[in-house]
Amino acid sequence: MLPRKCSFWAGSIVVALAGCGSETAAPEPGQPDDWDADVRLPEAKDTNEDPAIVEIDLTAKVASIEIVPGKMTQVWTYDGGLPGPLIHAKRGDRLIVHFTNELPEATTIHWHGVRVPNEMDGVPDEPTPPVEPGASFDYDFTLPDAGLFWYHPHVDSAAQVGFGLYGALLVDDPEEPADLGDPLVLVLSDLSLDEEGKVTAPDTSGDLGSVFGREGNVILVNGKPKPELRPRAGRRERWRLVDAAKSRYFWLDLDGAAGLRIGGDGGLSSKPSPIDRILLGPGQRADVLVTPVASPNERRTIRWIPFDRGYGSADLRSPEDVISIRAPDLPAETSPAIPDTSRAIEAIDTSKAAPISLDLTMDQQGDAITLGINGVPYDESEPIMAMIGDTQVWTVTNKMPWAHPFHLHGFFFQVLEANGSKVDDLEWTDTVHVGLDASVRFAVRFDERPGMWMFHCHILDHAELGMMGMVHLQE
Ligand code: C2O
Ligand code: CU
Repeated sequence: MLPRKCSFWAGSIVVALAGCGSETAAPEPGQPDDWDADVRLPEAKDTNEDPAIVEIDLTAKVASIEIVPGKMTQVWTYDGGLPGPLIHAKRGDRLIVHFTNELPEATTIHWHGVRVPNEMDGVPDEPTPPVEPGASFDYDFTLPDAGLFWYHPHVDSAAQVGFGLYGALLVDDPEEPADLGDPLVLVLSDLSLDEEGKVTAPDTSGDLGSVFGREGNVILVNGKPKPELRPRAGRRERWRLVDAAKSRYFWLDLDGAAGLRIGGDGGLSSKPSPIDRILLGPGQRADVLVTPVASPNERRTIRWIPFDRGYGSADLRSPEDVISIRAPDLPAETSPAIPDTSRAIEAIDTSKAAPISLDLTMDQQGDAITLGINGVPYDESEPIMAMIGDTQVWTVTNKMPWAHPFHLHGFFFQVLEANGSKVDDLEWTDTVHVGLDASVRFAVRFDERPGMWMFHCHILDHAELGMMGMVHLQE
């Protein structure tokens, strides 16, 4: 720690008596203004004066933006930016989104992870029809849970998400401990760009490309390739991360910094766990406390590490720099001790649960490949039946040589066992990684929101090839 500089104004007896530490003399504490300037997300403007209502306008439209320096890229956006604006609310708020579709195709918004009423879930015609080009729709629901959620289309989703349609929805918990760290929402994604900076066709390499899951060649953090953070040394940050890529897993190495994972998809977990890498499959979120730099001028680089999500997906690939961190030449500060974030989560009672078993399958006839669940692609599948109040235990088994981030709409579940290990620390999850030759078991309790609820692999290319299904929840 550098000695604090003092300067006294002439004649100020107060300052002289108080000695070093007057506000005029000390350097400004806290983060420098521009520490997160590279990744600062625009926030959607709340037009409603009622503090319990967040009301915004949101328009999906094509826009040209400079993503790679010197090249303009035409992308699909919410409100002209990639990612879309951060929607910021608190638990219990009502969210009203006046949505307009200015895209050349029909679209919807799916509120990933939010326990919305079925007609607000964004799955086309289940039950709400999609929003046609030029048309508008009002999404209107309350936000029952705190956490980082995200929004994206559910029409032709591999293509539309791949073109750039996604954004973060942060729901604060007013009762959470203060002082967790300086907040930072990080939307991780990628884009597949050709030499001129144009987004490549979403059907590149046909079905094989889909089975592999198309990853972009430019990694983006809040829409920027390799952004730089300039945080003050010693200050703790709270990273809220979401993997919004259509296929890419993000396995991030913290370059020696100690991370504490305090939550996942659906808010805080029952017990924080120390980590030195963050693993996120498409759709998943993480809530991580980290003090990335300890002393002035220190540097660190957060790197993407190839993650083996199946045949050849990690071969011949090297780590890539994702975020560079450079502490400015400012005296270090000490962050207060980490408050206890553990959350009391009651285990779902599974004593009367109905078992459901789902195999993730692939079928190849000549060149045509379909993916499915229990051997059937989505368009031939029968829904899983459930009644309000039912508890089910799902066993999802991977029969394919590729990993799948498995997502259930509308409900959180509790993972009991994943990829060979029993899970003891409870948390609320909506997207779970099903590894190679592995299986996952989770418990879900269906609350009083009847309707058709989708589940699917969140490698969106896999979903489009048929790896989707429905739960029919009845009164
Ligand atoms: Cu985020 Cu049906 O998906
Ligand atoms: Cu998959």
